[in-house]
Amino acid sequence: MMELTVLNTLGAAVSIFVLNYAVRRYTSCLANAPQPTSRNFWIQYLGFVPPPHDGEDVLSKFLIEVGQDQRQSPISVCFSVMGRPLVLVNTLKGIKDVLIDGQAKNKKLGPCVQRGDLIRRIHSLVFGGPSINNTVGEDWAWRRHVLLPPFQPRQLVPKLLPYVGEKATEVMTLFGQHALQGTALEVDNVFTDLTMNVINYYLYGRRDLNFDIVGGRANLKNEHLKLGLGFQSPEAWLPFGLNETTWAQRSYRPSREMLKDFIRDSLEKAEEEHKRLQRSKVGTGSATYHCVAAAGLDSGKYDNNREDLVNDLLSLTFAGYDTTAHTLSFCFSELARHPDIQQRVFEEVRRVLGPPPVAPESITADKLAQLPLVNAVYRETLRKYPAVVFIPVHVNRDTLVDNTVVPGGAEIWCNIRGLQMNPDIFPNPNEFNIDRWLAPPVTEASNTTSDSTYNDFDSFGENSKSNIDGKHTTETQYRFPDITFTLGQHACLGKNLAILELRTMIALTMNQFSLTLKPGNIIETKIVLTTKPKNGVWIHFDERNDLKNI
Ligand code: HEM
Repeated sequence: MMELTVLNTLGAAVSIFVLNYAVRRYTSCLANAPQPTSRNFWIQYLGFVPPPHDGEDVLSKFLIEVGQDQRQSPISVCFSVMGRPLVLVNTLKGIKDVLIDGQAKNKKLGPCVQRGDLIRRIHSLVFGGPSINNTVGEDWAWRRHVLLPPFQPRQLVPKLLPYVGEKATEVMTLFGQHALQGTALEVDNVFTDLTMNVINYYLYGRRDLNFDIVGGRANLKNEHLKLGLGFQSPEAWLPFGLNETTWAQRSYRPSREMLKDFIRDSLEKAEEEHKRLQRSKVGTGSATYHCVAAAGLDSGKYDNNREDLVNDLLSLTFAGYDTTAHTLSFCFSELARHPDIQQRVFEEVRRVLGPPPVAPESITADKLAQLPLVNAVYRETLRKYPAVVFIPVHVNRDTLVDNTVVPGGAEIWCNIRGLQMNPDIFPNPNEFNIDRWLAPPVTEASNTTSDSTYNDFDSFGENSKSNIDGKHTTETQYRFPDITFTLGQHACLGKNLAILELRTMIALTMNQFSLTLKPGNIIETKIVLTTKPKNGVWIHFDERNDLKNI
């Protein structure tokens, strides 16, 4: 009898489940949209990113296959086991509709789309509180308003370029030692330390932070990694608030607490310094600004809850180091396999920077703006290896995406990886070809000269309307907008900082060394929130003998 009741209940539950799926799936306005197939259960039926593992990068493979399949244009749909649509947007016009028009403010109804549900949950879990990376609406807008100015080129470049130049010069010394010894160096590790140093310096405006709190400067990245991997533990997803418990968060909470202690301490130091500077400026009338933390403090927005600022600084560190570091690593891996490109970039850089050693203070924004080939190298790297392979958004209400209505409640993945590997726009997409990013000779002058030192940082004017019209062909690929930092309201806050680091590192290295990849080092991607080189990147450096000007 008991068994019968259990069976009946189970049967009823299964029927409700199947009915719910069938109704949602077959009455959806997307019922007839093309459906991509994936051999991966997580993607196909849950609309989830598959958990990272050491095998093939199935997520990237899936996104590329979808992006290259004309039948799946402009959108294609996976239905989750709950019958919820996950919409892949595979055209530039569609991505623009979602990220620019969809995220735009609408006073009455709010934006059509907002940051994806799952990514918000992951960020909340990891950071343990609201931050610029997991909030939406007004809660996000005031943070963005306060934190954006220090990341604009006019503030960022004069304050940060000397430090970036200095740190990059130290890295050149390390490369030089390996060149002398003839040993290969794993550069991803080096770049992670570099970008971590840079973001910490810029956030707090000083070098003497108390790194002992996190077990030493070099351990900072390890604690961030542990924190970032926190979302992988099954307990972190337990329902009814169980995932909030210390027990459920035991694999990553200690790292988070340690990192927040470090931030609180750094913030105090930044505040003392900021007050001292303000006192010394009394009477000048201008508010002093000297670092991102100070901009936050000055705004008064964090006065009632200093922990909000701690969370924002944690998420800025998190967003600001590994994306740029891995991009540099992929970039070096490609340069190392393309001596012809190295030679062209070397000649360009040498003309502008002169022979090494290049004094850090002699590296100026003006000089960096005269390096179109260096730009082309980082653009091509981000095309082939976008740090963020898709942009997830949640659809609040029906939204038109490249002439198809996507219903409210759906989740969207803007398929950055797939679109940038589409041969209709980028012929031979697997080929690392920097010429894609060079304007034809007629307009070359506009690429090589710059009226304004800082405007050029957002190179190629990629966000100008004409470039986002969605009509890109192989002839106009050089004008393809930079979608790798996303578009619209949530455009990457640290884009200019990342570009500053990328340009400086590529230029200084090409000026002094030639690179080769260590034999046997296979370059493959792995997605753990961002795109990483799975096997690391091992480079042999050779000092260039030609120490002349060109
Ligand atoms: C190559 C380097 C980088 C790439 C490719 C990159 C890419 C991106 C992308 C695609 C997003 C949107 C993510 C989403 O909507 O889910 C984003 C957002 C963001 N990025 Fe970056 N990023 C890079 C470096 C940085 C750096 C150096 C910082 C330093 C502060 C930073 C801070 C942020 C922040 C705060 C956001 C959230 C912006 C908002 O929602 O208003 N990023 N980035």
